Amino acid sequence: MESLVPGPVAAVLDFMVTIFVLMVGIGFAAVVVIFIIDITQHRDAIRRNYPVVGRFRTLFTNLGEFFRQYFFAMDREEMPFNRAERQWAARAAAGGDNTVAFGSTKNLSLAGTLYFVNCPFPTLDTDRAETEPMIIGPTCRKPYAAPSFFNISGMSYGALSKPAIQALSRGAAMAGCWLNTGEGGLSPFHLEGECDIVFQIGTAKYGVRDGEGNLSDERLAALGADNRIKMFEIKLSQGAKPGKGGILPGIKVSEEIAAIRGIPAGQDSISPNRHPDIGTIGELLDRIAHIRAVTGKPVGIKCVIGAYGWLDAMFDEVKHRGEESAPDFITVDSGDGGTGAAPLPLMDNVGLPIRESLPTVDNIRKRHGMKQRVRLIASGKLITPSAVAGALCAGADFVVAARGFMFALGCIQSLKCNKNTCPTGITTHNTRLQRGLNPADKAVKVANYCKNMRKEVEVIAHSCGVPEPRRLRRFHVRVVEGDGRSTPFNELFPSPDAADNDPAAAIREGRAEDREAKPRPPAEVAIPAQA
Ligand SMILES: Cc1cc2nc3c(=O)[nH]c(=O)nc-3n(C[C@H](O)[C@H](O)[C@H](O)COP(=O)(O)O)c2cc1C
Ligand code: SF4
Repeated sequence: MESLVPGPVAAVLDFMVTIFVLMVGIGFAAVVVIFIIDITQHRDAIRRNYPVVGRFRTLFTNLGEFFRQYFFAMDREEMPFNRAERQWAARAAAGGDNTVAFGSTKNLSLAGTLYFVNCPFPTLDTDRAETEPMIIGPTCRKPYAAPSFFNISGMSYGALSKPAIQALSRGAAMAGCWLNTGEGGLSPFHLEGECDIVFQIGTAKYGVRDGEGNLSDERLAALGADNRIKMFEIKLSQGAKPGKGGILPGIKVSEEIAAIRGIPAGQDSISPNRHPDIGTIGELLDRIAHIRAVTGKPVGIKCVIGAYGWLDAMFDEVKHRGEESAPDFITVDSGDGGTGAAPLPLMDNVGLPIRESLPTVDNIRKRHGMKQRVRLIASGKLITPSAVAGALCAGADFVVAARGFMFALGCIQSLKCNKNTCPTGITTHNTRLQRGLNPADKAVKVANYCKNMRKEVEVIAHSCGVPEPRRLRRFHVRVVEGDGRSTPFNELFPSPDAADNDPAAAIREGRAEDREAKPRPPAEVAIPAQA
């Protein structure tokens, strides 16, 4: 009988049927092979008890990481940063309108929520004041007048990709904030934008070491002579991995990385878990004094606070040696700080969160009369205006952010920073993935994020009745406790400085500062609501 379909079509159909049968056969054979592998293996109980289907659990767990944020998670649910926080950062980076409609989606009764104490007579736009540059290291040969209260926290070239560092550097220059190198040394990419640089000295002293890994005065002096480098930060610890060193595997030590870090190419490089030359308060102050003497620039420390009695001991020793021996700044990192890679128990459970450690350190420095001498820098999930304003209330002179700026660069929180597969090109050295990160475009976003952050922190300050963010005090914020009621922050952490606890004292202090800054009648400062 004659076929109903023409010959060529029948041939194609025959071919497709054959392919289909073959694929079903291969699929069936694969299932049988996987079944045998699963039922005979001993390492995974789920796969042994539920051969083949047990494997979907791993697949769905992995896919869940990606899809949860799009389909299932509510605005305020995810960690470490929820969608509302990420979107604020992304909108601030994009520039333009950063308003939201209808009302807050935030659950305001959760413990830890901040309520700022707005004022019946907010600061008029005409009475707002510019936040003046703040001097760090007044006793150095070259003090730093830091223009921005919001800056970029340490992230090394290596943890971040080349285009990410280029974008941060150019963006920092546009926004007038500083960029901290992180512990991986100073790369040409950090310098590309000609921004202010804070050079971090990690335990391996990358970029500032001699052949044996000791601090090199020659390198220090060369860095100190560079006008772009404004300060040096000795990293004692960081929130995500206090007391943890690391190994940079030889395969990652390219010629370029080796030259930047001052280590041999192709060989494993070990970061000790502590500075081998800094084991006591005396040695710490000696090191600070030495680096300051060689470079002429402000020198501070970065640490996550667990035990804090040592700070009293340090300030006692400073008084004994003379005020100029103090660290010029202390960067306090939160116990829940970020990193490229760290063990979970260190990330989760070691070190105090910034909300406790910041007022604690501020109280100690104020008790020792070091408020003006030792500047306080805070970091740790301070990526939205309310978090930054809260840190200023708690005693910070400056706030630095790492992951906030990663969101400005386009980070989607896929949590693959340690895998070299970052889909946005920020933490990968795969040049194909880096193609998506255009340094020129992202620099604008970095700058927008920083500028909009400052602007919205100012809005909170004005709402509280003060002319600029650094006039925010502890009594300007209340914290929700476990029973859902809020308590003034100055009652939770009373300060030795009356201006933190008492609105009238803050107003007196503000007037005195105004008189000192400009010899003209000070602007009336409105009395905050709770006064
Ligand atoms: C990718 C990445 C790399 C980091 N590298 C360093 C580093 O080299 N040195 C350092 O002191 N901190 C490093 N940190 C920690 C940050 O500087 C910061 O202290 C911490 O992430 C908390 O700030 P955040 O919540 O704004 O991210 C790194 C963080 C990230 C996310
Ligand atoms: S997008 Fe990249 S930088 Fe952001 S969390 Fe994922 S891997 Fe890390």
